[in-house]
Amino acid sequence: MPPLNPLRIDILTLFPEMYAPILGTSIPKRAAEKGLVSYHLTDLRPFGEGVHQSIDDKPFGGGPGMVFMCGPMFAAVNHVESQLPQTPPRRIILTPGGKPLTQQTVRELSMLPRLLLIAGHYEGFDQRIIDGLKPQEISIGDYVLSGGELPAMVLIDAIVRLIPGALGASDGAEDESFTDGLLEHPQYTRPREFKGMAVPEVLLSGDHRKIAKWRHDKRLEVTHTRRPDLLPPASPAQ
Ligand code: ADE
Repeated sequence: MPPLNPLRIDILTLFPEMYAPILGTSIPKRAAEKGLVSYHLTDLRPFGEGVHQSIDDKPFGGGPGMVFMCGPMFAAVNHVESQLPQTPPRRIILTPGGKPLTQQTVRELSMLPRLLLIAGHYEGFDQRIIDGLKPQEISIGDYVLSGGELPAMVLIDAIVRLIPGALGASDGAEDESFTDGLLEHPQYTRPREFKGMAVPEVLLSGDHRKIAKWRHDKRLEVTHTRRPDLLPPASPAQ
């Protein structure tokens, strides 16, 4: 039976057609089919102004690029939110200037009843969109993409797979990277030896305590080497 309260994800975008291949494949698709989540795409263009349905304009003060205008964005947000006024969404804007996305944020968002993702394209947003709508600003990394569509899809994928029931029993999300702040340990499967490279003996030992310790040690080692920033600061020697 589908859950009583599936997560509703509304998406405001100038390119709704970009989402179909991602939301219609793999876990995001299966989660929707199981009734765990629903996706609602709204095209921003019809909220544009004038004969050309403009959504952006030149920046005051000059400079390159275009700026997404307040009018179309406020109208679109109002339109989407009034479709289900009893459940106001967490508003989220995808922007390279936002707070970097972490698994902790993903976990928190996966527990909310409704999200409204706002993706701009090419242009920045008029600051009054941020000040007036007070969205959570999220970046998916320190690089600039041509729009917020791919970041919105990254966020959706990361969120949806955490909804209970979205992953199969054999591919649970419990002991993967970041769940407890550490990266994942190395994994091996058949064959026991490949091109002279052997699977670590301990994994074949059947000793579950030893295996658990080996895995934990490896997680610490990998995290220490690649992402020391994830580890708590070492406590001073007594
Ligand atoms: N829009 C463009 N680049 C982005 C990024 N890195 N994260 C979120 N939104 C973006």
